[in-house]
Amino acid sequence: MEKGKKITLSAIKADVGSYTGHVRVHPDLLAVAKASLEEALKANFLIDYHVTACGDDLQLIMTHQKGSDNAEVHELAWDTFSKCADRAKELKLYGAGQDLLADAFSGNVRGLGPGAAEMEFVERGSEPVVIFMADKTEPGAWNYPLFKIFADPFNTAGLVIDPNMHNGFVFEVHELKKKKKILFSMPEDMYTMLAFIGSPSEYCIKAIYRKNNTEEKVAVTSTEKLGLIAGRYVGKDDPVCIVRCQSGLPAVGEVIEPFTHPHLVAGWMRGSHHGPLMPVSQEDSGPTRFDGPPRVIGLGFQLNEGKLVGPVDFFADKAYDRARDIANQMADYMRRLGPFEPHRLPSEQMEYTTLPILLKELDAEFTDL
Ligand code: F6R
Ligand code: MG
Ligand code: MG
Repeated sequence: MEKGKKITLSAIKADVGSYTGHVRVHPDLLAVAKASLEEALKANFLIDYHVTACGDDLQLIMTHQKGSDNAEVHELAWDTFSKCADRAKELKLYGAGQDLLADAFSGNVRGLGPGAAEMEFVERGSEPVVIFMADKTEPGAWNYPLFKIFADPFNTAGLVIDPNMHNGFVFEVHELKKKKKILFSMPEDMYTMLAFIGSPSEYCIKAIYRKNNTEEKVAVTSTEKLGLIAGRYVGKDDPVCIVRCQSGLPAVGEVIEPFTHPHLVAGWMRGSHHGPLMPVSQEDSGPTRFDGPPRVIGLGFQLNEGKLVGPVDFFADKAYDRARDIANQMADYMRRLGPFEPHRLPSEQMEYTTLPILLKELDAEFTDL
């Protein structure tokens, strides 16, 4: 690592095929991905990497010094996913190559199917980071926990007690369909921001900054929406989120605390149902019941000159057993509603699913009242 130069942490993910159905990434794909990134490491292209999976999504966590949205890093991710997709096709895995929406790479994986959360920063004396990865849900799923972590004093004691956090944080919120962004300053703009981020299907928290430095991110999410890119339902977005912790930022315990409350998110079966976001260990991240319930894993690393020391699998801990119990009870309750809202998503949000095709077929049969 080049001293004094910023480090870039990139979490890039894609579903390039899974088994059985949309449940898990096959071990062969993990091996192919590791071999691909190992080669890049040996060539001194990457400083370090960690390959993992959350449900049916393959996750490439990489450190380097090339900055966010770097074409070469994105090409490496794309090539790695492509090699994995080839293996998935050989194994006749389900949805092989699913998230690779383009035939060829064109400069940046954003817009081609994969999701990416990246940030550049000067590595501090000690740099703890938590990377959250979710399956069977969408980017808006991070709105609730990120608000709790960086703006809710009932969650984050540091907002009250730590003089370095007492001034609050700045949130960058994106309107995904219209491709617009806005900054909100916490706590001053809290009520206004909540009016937007309370609609997680429309507005997503993209990044969070310290008050005095809106250049360097302290949290970032992937906000790629597969439906918007493909114009139809090809799978859920299954987002990732990186949060830096401690020393004037929320403590690790404050960062993982919101996941004790399994909030309702959009996704689950056919990307068309609300269900609880269940915190689970990496090992337990394969969705089962009704292709769910939606799951989140949280892996912690310490950066050491760009090397990824870890991970700690936070939600493997017993302290999250009760959250899982609550999530399972919520899943029972929601499932009983069957095809009725609010289990099934409201019609506006069904736009990119297969339902509109059916409704269109019946158009002519509707007569005027
Ligand atoms: C949700 C998801 C699954 C599939 C479902 C149907 O994100 O991926 O719930 O939508 O298993 O899949 P197909 O239509 O491929 O049979
Ligand atoms: Mg899949
Ligand atoms: Mg998935």
